Amino acid sequence: MINRIGVVGLGYVGLPLACAFASKSFKVIGLDTDLEKIELIKRGETPIYEEGLQELLRKVLEEKSLKVTSSYREMVEETEACFICVGTPSNPDGSVDLRYVREAIEMLGESLRRVDKYFLLVVRSTIPPGTTLNVIKRILEEKSGRRLGEYGLCFNPEFLREGRALYDIFNPDRVIIGAIDEESGKLLLDIYKKFHGESIPPVLMTNPTNAELIKYANNVFLATKVSFINMVSQLCQRIPNADVKVVAEGIGMDKRIGREFLNAGLGWGGSCFPKDVKAFLRFGEELGLRSKLVESIIEINETQIENAVKLAEELVGRLEGRTISILGLAFKPNTDDVRESRAIRLIEELLKYDVEIKVHDPKALEKAKKILGDRVIYCKTIEECLTGSDLCILATEWAEYKELKQEMLKKYMRSPALLDCRRLYDPGEFKQIKFAAIGLGPRYVKSLSSNSEE
Ligand SMILES: NC(=O)c1ccc[n+]([C@@H]2O[C@H](COP(=O)([O-])OP(=O)(O)OC[C@H]3O[C@@H](n4cnc5c(N)ncnc54)[C@H](O)[C@@H]3O)[C@@H](O)[C@H]2O)c1
Repeated sequence: MINRIGVVGLGYVGLPLACAFASKSFKVIGLDTDLEKIELIKRGETPIYEEGLQELLRKVLEEKSLKVTSSYREMVEETEACFICVGTPSNPDGSVDLRYVREAIEMLGESLRRVDKYFLLVVRSTIPPGTTLNVIKRILEEKSGRRLGEYGLCFNPEFLREGRALYDIFNPDRVIIGAIDEESGKLLLDIYKKFHGESIPPVLMTNPTNAELIKYANNVFLATKVSFINMVSQLCQRIPNADVKVVAEGIGMDKRIGREFLNAGLGWGGSCFPKDVKAFLRFGEELGLRSKLVESIIEINETQIENAVKLAEELVGRLEGRTISILGLAFKPNTDDVRESRAIRLIEELLKYDVEIKVHDPKALEKAKKILGDRVIYCKTIEECLTGSDLCILATEWAEYKELKQEMLKKYMRSPALLDCRRLYDPGEFKQIKFAAIGLGPRYVKSLSSNSEE
């Protein structure tokens, strides 16, 4: 039974995973090559915002069930298995940049040469079908001098949602194990049996290639759902009295469809969907399969940004010279992650119109600064963000934005107008100001003059 585990790459996936294992009687060594990150984590500070993580990190550090290092040698000497959670970003052509995975396996392989024990390697980073067998196995054997049987290897995809990472790690829908041989699969299953106890979720045991493809197909399917409802939302905007929120509610009641991922808005963003969808398209093309379906969901996603800009223009007329307040910068609520955030993408588009942009986000301001620099004004409070503005755009649906009332907009804004890009608000509560929302029929786009007709 494996009790001592390494987690390589302490980012949005690795750090919660390391803390979770450490809280369940495993001895864990977390490893990252970013020395600043390591120092921060050692002090009990999390480099990312994730609900409950700070508290859990401090607890497991105090209990000494988690320690962190930048030394592969130390990790390999003190553990029996390790989970690879390094990033797999996109190359400019959409293919997957495997640089960090390669580096990690090389360093791990070299350290394995120096010890004499069976070691289980579990890859959790999202990698294209075939990578475990054709790339990882090869590098590992070359660097460690070992043969299968002297080591074990699994691909074990991660499905957590940022913002709910710990909840999802403790309560996953399923565990997918892509094992290179029976022994590797059995050892990983034993780890999960110990981790989940009685409440172990359904397990699918398969080969690494299927497991790799399951992860991509899963994300592409979810992105397709979002693009589908956004396509319906574009239709609703052309049909008087139509409302995509009600339509989504109705079709979501069909058990075969389900309500989740049917929220119309600015589209899918974040650190996973955009890169995984592009990679899926790309490796299909490399195999001679052009997927028009996947091309279309990307196109719809882009159109939603244009759609939001058009709605903004319908509300306030020419955008040039206007001051626009953006509420929310993170790619979704409850995270500080701004990678591929649709809010940032919308801001980039609006900046082409010579507008002044003021931004607010409860957690993501610092990370957004690295992308937006001095091109926007950063505000600590919602009031400050609204002050003197001509248009407020709700871009990320943080719970605290739900409290926004038309009185507040009237009080602080130069000319109160609200564009709801996440369908957070009840249009009925904004009757006295200009209001528009994605996926609402045309009669809902209200200029002040048409308000009187309502
Ligand atoms: N973020 C998510 O919600 C999520 C969900 C499911 C799957 N994934 C997948 O998990 C993987 C990790 O994603 P993330 O969002 O946690 O990435 P991240 O960028 O937040 O973290 C990656 C970490 O790996 C470290 N690193 C890079 N090279 C290293 C090396 N050679 N050795 C040790 N550490 C190294 C980096 O310093 C960084 O801290 C990706 O493949 C991603 O597609 C992410």
